[in-house]
Amino acid sequence: MIPGMGAVATTLVAGVEAVRKGIAKPIGSLTQMGTVRLGKRTDARSPLIKDFVPLAKLDNLCFTGWDIFADNMFEAASTARVLDRDQLETIRPFLEGIRPMPAVFDQYYVKRLNGSNVKKGKNKRDLAEQLRADIQAYKKVTQRQVMIWCGSTEIFLKPTAVHQSITAFEKGLEENDINIAPSMIYAYAALQEGIPFANGAPNLTVDLPVMQELSRKNNAPITGKDFKTGQTFMKTVLAPAFKARMLGVSGWYSTNILGNRDGEVLDDPESFKTKEESKLSVLDFILQPDLYPDLYKDIYHKVRINYYPPRGDNKEGWDNIDIFGWLGYPMQIKVDFLCRDSILAAPIALDLVLFLDLAARTPELNDLGIQEWLSFYWKSPMTAPGLYPEHDLFIQLMKLKNTLRHIKGESLITHLGLEYYD
Ligand SMILES: NC(=O)c1ccc[n+]([C@@H]2O[C@H](COP(=O)([O-])OP(=O)(O)OC[C@H]3O[C@@H](n4cnc5c(N)ncnc54)[C@H](O)[C@@H]3O)[C@@H](O)[C@H]2O)c1
Repeated sequence: MIPGMGAVATTLVAGVEAVRKGIAKPIGSLTQMGTVRLGKRTDARSPLIKDFVPLAKLDNLCFTGWDIFADNMFEAASTARVLDRDQLETIRPFLEGIRPMPAVFDQYYVKRLNGSNVKKGKNKRDLAEQLRADIQAYKKVTQRQVMIWCGSTEIFLKPTAVHQSITAFEKGLEENDINIAPSMIYAYAALQEGIPFANGAPNLTVDLPVMQELSRKNNAPITGKDFKTGQTFMKTVLAPAFKARMLGVSGWYSTNILGNRDGEVLDDPESFKTKEESKLSVLDFILQPDLYPDLYKDIYHKVRINYYPPRGDNKEGWDNIDIFGWLGYPMQIKVDFLCRDSILAAPIALDLVLFLDLAARTPELNDLGIQEWLSFYWKSPMTAPGLYPEHDLFIQLMKLKNTLRHIKGESLITHLGLEYYD
């Protein structure tokens, strides 16, 4: 169930159908292509993840969602212009069969958008009830459900009193509290219905005590926010490498040009602020300037996103990194990533849906609320209160795979390796 059926969502759905029809491969998806090593290096046991844990099969996935534009998924995919027209034609009837339900939307939270496929209600509580009715109707035609927000980035909001408990939040829904954004209403509806929720955008949404309470109460797993796709993905690969070698960083300037609807929304300063916070936080957590003041205390970190229509979904992300080595001698690294935003995001969205569905069915995981083992996919992973997030991509991968080993009763891999020399 997808609130926001734009570029990422249509690329996900079209991609799953193309894979099911055997006309493309699920490149970039750990659940579909990844393996997990079991036992010793000498055991030669490395099953595919999808054969090791009981994930839902692609053939069994169904899609629905909400959008403020009433276009069916073929029309929406054509507008997004991520996939080739010829490829879309091969799956056209399937995509035309999926039409978004009217959305819960308020332009106050996404200034650059205006659509007419929108629910009306006497207050936010009424809108939440309408979403719950949509979910209940979908429950009648499917066995299990997961909700993944692929909607636009909302304006920057901070947690307030209304987000602190279920009682306060429900009162806020009744009173149309301005601090309750549409994405929170979707999350509330999903968690009340006992279905897992993932947030592809950097909005606050589930990063709130009320949602954590609901998640645990209803065994509906939640996890981080903002898909870690292009520039931040590179950052969380490079920064740990500098730290591993004790190389200093004095500056990191990141800029992007992109021309899709996401870029247009992020051109609004209030939505950009939400994204900026999410993109900025990773370096501090990885480099730990408090532990390594000589190396990282004075780092100047800047992130820019510029809306540039000619590029469409094909973003260009530049990074200029000023590092320094032995005796403080400076060096520079330039990264120019000509990526395709939704091509990177779609497999992440797929994996999250499959892993959250697995978590909801796994006794060791489903009452935890936050699924920290899915940090791998996020710019802003969620953690228990007071715990700092793990951003290093390879530690995140180890955490994810060890969690799979753990739930299947296999021994964890520590990479100690002394046993090979007994
Ligand atoms: N593609 C990436 O690499 C990437 C990475 C990280 C995060 N994201 C985030 O994922 C989200 C989706 O990106 P996209 O490129 O598909 O954007 P998009 O603009 O193509 O699609 C977003 C869709 O959400 C809809 N929408 C907005 N508010 C809604 C609401 N309240 N209810 C229902 N629908 C609503 C819009 O009408 C639009 O169709 C964005 O927030 C983006 O920042 C994308």
